[in-house]
Amino acid sequence: MSDNESTTLTPLAQAASIPVPPADELAGRFPLHPNPTPVTDQQREEHLASLSFGTVFSDHMAYARFTDGQWQSHSVVPYGPIALSPAASVLHYGQEVFEGIKAYRHEDGSIWTFRPRYNAARFNASARRLALPELCEDDFVASLVDLVRADAQWVPSAPGSSLYLRPFMFASEAFLGVKPAHTVDYYVIASPSGAYFKGGFTPVSIWVTTDYHRAGRGGTGAAKTSGNYAASLLPQQQAYDNDCDQVCFLDDVTQTTIEELGGMNLFVVDTDGTIRTPRLTGTILEGGTRSAIITLLTSKGYTVKEDTIILSELTAQLQAGTIAEIFACGTAAVVTPVGRLKSETFDLEVPVGELTPQIHRTLTDIQYGRVEDPFGWMYKIC
Ligand SMILES: Cc1ncc(COP(=O)(O)O)c(C=O)c1O
Repeated sequence: MSDNESTTLTPLAQAASIPVPPADELAGRFPLHPNPTPVTDQQREEHLASLSFGTVFSDHMAYARFTDGQWQSHSVVPYGPIALSPAASVLHYGQEVFEGIKAYRHEDGSIWTFRPRYNAARFNASARRLALPELCEDDFVASLVDLVRADAQWVPSAPGSSLYLRPFMFASEAFLGVKPAHTVDYYVIASPSGAYFKGGFTPVSIWVTTDYHRAGRGGTGAAKTSGNYAASLLPQQQAYDNDCDQVCFLDDVTQTTIEELGGMNLFVVDTDGTIRTPRLTGTILEGGTRSAIITLLTSKGYTVKEDTIILSELTAQLQAGTIAEIFACGTAAVVTPVGRLKSETFDLEVPVGELTPQIHRTLTDIQYGRVEDPFGWMYKIC
């Protein structure tokens, strides 16, 4: 494997660089069945005036069902409860994958999303690992287009806000045998969300767990599937118990190298200007934000290494003062500085540097259309 992604695009980054047909061409693949009882304008405005994350949902959801060997019933339907057999195999064996992507409102009122083909390709990579059927990538993007166009009024305009989109598919077949399901349901739901950092850029504290692992070799760590998150909840609780915000996982074989957080990738900036991020070993999720940051920094002339980051070396470097900053990244927060690294055996302060806020500014300026998008990452929905 190359150390530097600027010379080798991963399959996901390659997929993301293939142009997506314009939204007008994709629109209508998921025909709208309007919600007869949408929330009132006043209720929606109230929701949009007090945004949090993942608690309020828009009036519609996109839907398709895989049955008889093909995807069918593509539609945008009223948001509401899902009728599911108690024997649906997802409830027993966890055959599910999901994605997270945002729709951003620009100053002129238009609505855009960020690298949707990346998420489409990752959704299918996750589906393959979970023995779920793949969804045509254009249909994945079309489902976002049709849902966001139906619920465009739900895309907030407050600074740093967005409409968070959650595509997911799961085994809905009612069958208790342990085997891949023949019936699978796909949905996209949408939740208006507020700025991650409300009162400025707050560093997070990280608990490095040595008791638990998120993923193992040959397992599902590289897939975005519910079981990985279920496995991360107890160590996340351990992080809270140790006065930390997030949990960081080590590799399961040597238990010495840093992998990722429960829901974000990590970058380390050395005082000599080198930037490192854990290489993709098959046990970590290949984040779209991670990929964009590698491209962005490489284009600015930085050396970005996808590397093996050994925890004991990192803590020694922190003590010696040769770490300039550490940051985490993901769709929700974009980037967040790490201010403290803690485990059973150490508790270290991490310096907060200049690069993290610069990356945050550059990425969000592109996402909100405040600057030109030199990488062709933005996709206009309407
Ligand atoms: C385990 C994990 N790692 C990394 C990420 C960051 O990925 P992305 O930048 O695509 O949001 C996420 C969030 O989706 C995640 O759940």
